[in-house]
Amino acid sequence: MLIKSSSSPHPTEADVTPEQVYRDRRLVLKGLGLGAASLALPAQASLLDLFKDDAAPAPAGKPLKVNPAPRPEGLVLTPYDKATSHNNFYELGTGKGDPARNAHYLKTEPWTLKVGGEVERPFTLDVKDLVDKGPLEERIYRLRCVEAWSMVLPWSGISLADIIKRAAPTSRAKFVAFETLYDPEQLPGQASRSLGGGIDYPYVEGLRIDEAMHPLAFLAVGLYGKTLPGQNGAPIRLVVPWKYGFKSIKSIVSIRLVEEMPPTTWNLLAPNEYGFYANVNPQVDHPRWSQASERFIGEGGIFGAKRQPTLMFNGYGEEVASLYQGMDLRKWY
Ligand code: MTE
Repeated sequence: MLIKSSSSPHPTEADVTPEQVYRDRRLVLKGLGLGAASLALPAQASLLDLFKDDAAPAPAGKPLKVNPAPRPEGLVLTPYDKATSHNNFYELGTGKGDPARNAHYLKTEPWTLKVGGEVERPFTLDVKDLVDKGPLEERIYRLRCVEAWSMVLPWSGISLADIIKRAAPTSRAKFVAFETLYDPEQLPGQASRSLGGGIDYPYVEGLRIDEAMHPLAFLAVGLYGKTLPGQNGAPIRLVVPWKYGFKSIKSIVSIRLVEEMPPTTWNLLAPNEYGFYANVNPQVDHPRWSQASERFIGEGGIFGAKRQPTLMFNGYGEEVASLYQGMDLRKWY
């Protein structure tokens, strides 16, 4: 994710070539006016490298009881090793490889998810129960990051609507607010603004209630039929396939039904660049680069990957366009 650098008001070649921009995390920090010490790091270094200890690889996922989805024709899946080594999870580092390297800090058992707010039956879910109970559903979804790369991934989990219905929302519930775990010992990027890319943690996200109740909105506990690795948001994360990837908040501990539109992390950080809705839309560019196309991460990884056109609502328009009828999607980006 990128923040506009105040020192370079006019787009440069690097600005319009997102992958080159986000390879250099220093731009993010520079834009935020953060410390000189961090800027002295080599271009590819992450701040978390500074206190990297005996970084162990994340433990292999446990097989899940999943009803497999048919492999869709014409969609190539992103290989597991790519999906688990090229990540955005700023609490585990701002470089794409950092989350995998630092995932061992995150302890995902036991893990409880609280569902509350404007509901008649608040409850606390023990995620292990959900994982063990099975069978889980498999959903093969496109993931489109706002940085203009994409993947196709087989998630295992349950529909978000099932969880929300269980809590029986009241008539005052108009939005749903999500929150990632806050624990700087497990998510070291939360220890300071400079380590965590300038974000005020915990990471928070939100959906309108009708978006959250849409059958495509999904809570994933697994990837490729195995429990989620830490870097992908273990043990439970949101997946909203028609929206930019930053809406798909990881390692969730709280879901609250609320009356007002809740604050969301990237919108708080750069409201002119990242909106609340964040629907994938090839016609509405990011202020600094085009959203008309994307690089698909397949066998070969991101660099050298061919560009492909980005689809309206990431290809899920038939299912979700009615949610936004009458809305000006340029205004509500
Ligand atoms: N959730 C939290 N808590 N922290 C993050 O930094 N990054 C978001 C999203 N969820 C992020 C997060 C972004 S920008 C993207 S593109 C997706 O996670 C990436 O998911 P992946 O790493 O599994 O591909």
